[in-house]
Amino acid sequence: MGKIVYVLPDGEQVIEAREGESLMQIAVQAGVSAIEGECGGEMSCATCHVWIEDDWAAKLRRPSQDELDLLEADDHYTDESRLGCQIKYSSAIDGIVAKIPG
Ligand code: FES
Repeated sequence: MGKIVYVLPDGEQVIEAREGESLMQIAVQAGVSAIEGECGGEMSCATCHVWIEDDWAAKLRRPSQDELDLLEADDHYTDESRLGCQIKYSSAIDGIVAKIPG
């Protein structure tokens, strides 16, 4: 067990995380309201959009072209944008900070 820090416009939520689950799944199960995960992780909704700072992003697999295409169409797209459903939690990223646009 580790943790993920979700940063929302009105404060932080620190959530326990299990190996192999995505940042989207963990947020939805914990009731982080700003992450919806509408498509269930099929890369078609972008309701799991998060911003990951470079230091953490360097520890992650790079986004696929499909992930980038969906993110770039979102109003909140920045260089730090990722889909939470495409990031699997592992102990290598224990404590990762995911900011939620909004
Ligand atoms: S949950 Fe739909 S794109 Fe991530």
